Amino acid sequence: MLKPAAPEIERILYTEEQVQQRIAEVGAEISERYRGRELKLIGVLKGSVFFLTALARSIDVPVRMDFLSISSFSSKTTAPGLVRIAKDLDESIEEEDVLLVEDIIDTGFTARYLLQTLAARGPNSLAVCTLLDRTCRRIVQIPVEFRCFEIPDRFVVGCGLDYQQLYRNLSYIAVMKHERSQ
Ligand code: IMP
Ligand code: MG
Repeated sequence: MLKPAAPEIERILYTEEQVQQRIAEVGAEISERYRGRELKLIGVLKGSVFFLTALARSIDVPVRMDFLSISSFSSKTTAPGLVRIAKDLDESIEEEDVLLVEDIIDTGFTARYLLQTLAARGPNSLAVCTLLDRTCRRIVQIPVEFRCFEIPDRFVVGCGLDYQQLYRNLSYIAVMKHERSQ
């Protein structure tokens, strides 16, 4: 069911049903790729939490989950892409099959930093799964093995994505009325 949109929402890009359907498809793809193995899902707080829990339920190989959070110092003009880990994983990922789960990959700086950091910890394999991919704004190239939706160059909220920490709990993905002013 479509809940009434918040006043700052311009239009719905993907409905709750479309999001659920696509997550189920990607979950099935992931299950096939990792068949016979165990998978560790790593979520980036807080944006990927909604996606990660939905994705985990649509994967039918055994999964473990762990979370980290990052702070970005990015001033988009002077120093783009400066990221550090604010809360680290609870457990080691050595020898594990690891899937980094992101809400959105935009410039790619965050994902690149996380991939480099995680790769240095000796996982058996390391791949990326993102709910949204905005390739038109990519600055650094990173491999994205699984993606639900490719989106246009508009600021979006919902399904974990926020505008000033609001709207993460919308069950659809929507474009904001006012262009990115975060
Ligand atoms: P990147 O390092 O430029 O790829 O930025 C990724 C991060 O920027 C995401 O994890 C989000 O927190 C944030 N972000 C980028 N675009 C959007 C958007 O349209 N809505 C909400 N957050 C966004
Ligand atoms: Mg954010």
